[in-house]
Amino acid sequence: MSTRIKSVDDIPGLRRITTQTLQEMKVSGIKIAMLTAYDFTSARLLDAAGIDVLLVGDSASNVMAGHETTLPITLDQMIYHASSVVRGVSRALVVVDLPFGSYQGNPKEALASAIRVMKEAGAHAIKLEGGAAVVPSVERIIEAGIPVLGHLGLTPQSIYRFGTYQVRAREEEEADQLRLDARLLERAGCFGIVLEKIPAALAKEVSESVEIPTLGIGAGPHCDGQVLVTHDMLGLNTDFSPRFVRRYANLDTTIQEAVQAYVGDVRGRRFPNPEESY
Ligand code: KIV
Repeated sequence: MSTRIKSVDDIPGLRRITTQTLQEMKVSGIKIAMLTAYDFTSARLLDAAGIDVLLVGDSASNVMAGHETTLPITLDQMIYHASSVVRGVSRALVVVDLPFGSYQGNPKEALASAIRVMKEAGAHAIKLEGGAAVVPSVERIIEAGIPVLGHLGLTPQSIYRFGTYQVRAREEEEADQLRLDARLLERAGCFGIVLEKIPAALAKEVSESVEIPTLGIGAGPHCDGQVLVTHDMLGLNTDFSPRFVRRYANLDTTIQEAVQAYVGDVRGRRFPNPEESY
């Protein structure tokens, strides 16, 4: 009889998703589902719904704080968001982005930032952006026992170098560099790699060429898992609708209608009624 695992719940003794679980999922061909979270209440909901990985992304800079880019968010602010998420989770793996400016200087600085995230937020792993240039930092962080998720392709912390949020690595030279970076990150010990906004064929090739899981966002269906920003897929952020976002709900409308009904009830003296009063 085959012992092949068909669902993540078939993994013997699974209580929490770990980096090893993700590896087993890749080997078994079970796709990994990952979403962003920045607060306790959302984290609790997403965890209860069966999400495998919660990313406390530096997209909090856009989504929570209203900044145009991910650059302004600080390490202290990321730790605040991450500690709230960790308190809401009992099953998912919680990965936290090291924000811009907290790791690019040198491996020592990168390690100090990663340690703060693990110690002060109780995170399970960190993510950082880049390829060859960040390998010494990745190695240093992993040597300290901290799991690292890589991030290649469109790396939003480099937006001012790219100048645009267009698809990356369409040209062969950049695609070759990305293939090499993926191998370097794997060799450095990363437990996975986020591939953002690259051609589906390239993401397929990279996913097949590395043994660690790839998590795609705008990188086609062949990655080992998918990641989206929760606010985009729930339809809370309708100003942003690139083709890679599938909208699973229209919470913008639901919330607007609920708030309009509340305002109407307050104005019309229908809220609170006697049962809602002491
Ligand atoms: O910060 C973030 O939300 C991310 C995802 C887009 C992968 O890095």
